[in-house]
Formats: sequence, structure tokens, C-alpha cells
Amino acid sequence: MPPKSLKLGSNSMTKTSLFVCISCQRKDQKTQTDVSEGEHLYNKLKSQNLSESLEIVAVKCLAACSNGCSIALSGEDKWSYIYGEMNPHTDVAEIIIGADAYSQSIDGIVPWRERPVVFRKRTRARIPPIAFKEIHNE
Ligand code: FES
Repeated sequence: MPPKSLKLGSNSMTKTSLFVCISCQRKDQKTQTDVSEGEHLYNKLKSQNLSESLEIVAVKCLAACSNGCSIALSGEDKWSYIYGEMNPHTDVAEIIIGADAYSQSIDGIVPWRERPVVFRKRTRARIPPIAFKEIHNE
């Protein structure tokens, strides 16, 4: 069940960074390739017609290596998410849909049913925004 949203103000459509680990191999991959699957994913995402608010950023590792291909979404005053097991051959369209929904959200928390399946099923971690205030039982 998704958490209650954190309202930090109207910062929707601010810059969103989609970090793509270019070192990752898919864990279901049978053979090693010269170009990593993560780099394939990065190249495919970069070649798409993306909204101006979305920036694709290559990174060498997201410390989620056993979950390749790994990506992460982050935006100012928003929750950050790490996703794993992305497939550059099948998941690019859904990743972009999910990243756009994240960009349009106030706090990075997209309603569960509005998230693409690859995000619903392959979330590996989420990190609160720096301004997050501790929540005690309500
Ligand atoms: S090699 Fe991709 S997360 Fe570490």
C-alpha cells in the first residue's frame, strides 16, 4: 500500500533525473555482451522523445547490482525511487510513462494504479526527500 503523500508545495513538473546504471547486466541474461544491458537501456532512453522536465543521467553503479538493470528517479523535494530488473528490450516505454508521472507528481509519490507495472513490481527502495519530517503514529 502506498504511503500518504508528503505535501511540500507545488513543485510538480520540476526537473526529474532518471539515473541509469550503465554497468548493469540483467540477472536473467544468458550471455555476456560487450555493451552492457544497462548501457543499452541508457541509449534507448536517450533516443526517445522525452519531456523537457526529464533528464536521463548515466551512472556507473547504483549499489543495486544484483537487481540489474537498475535505475533511479529523483527530483527536488520528492521521494526518490530505485527500481531493478529493467529490460532495455521491453521496458523503455513503461519507464518513460512512469518517469513522466513522477515528474508531474507533487512529492514523487504516484498513485499506485497510475504507476506502470514495471514500477509497481520492481521497486527496490525509496528514499524520503531531505525536508521530510519524521512521522509518528497518527
Ligand atoms: S552495476 Fe548496476 S547497480 Fe551496480
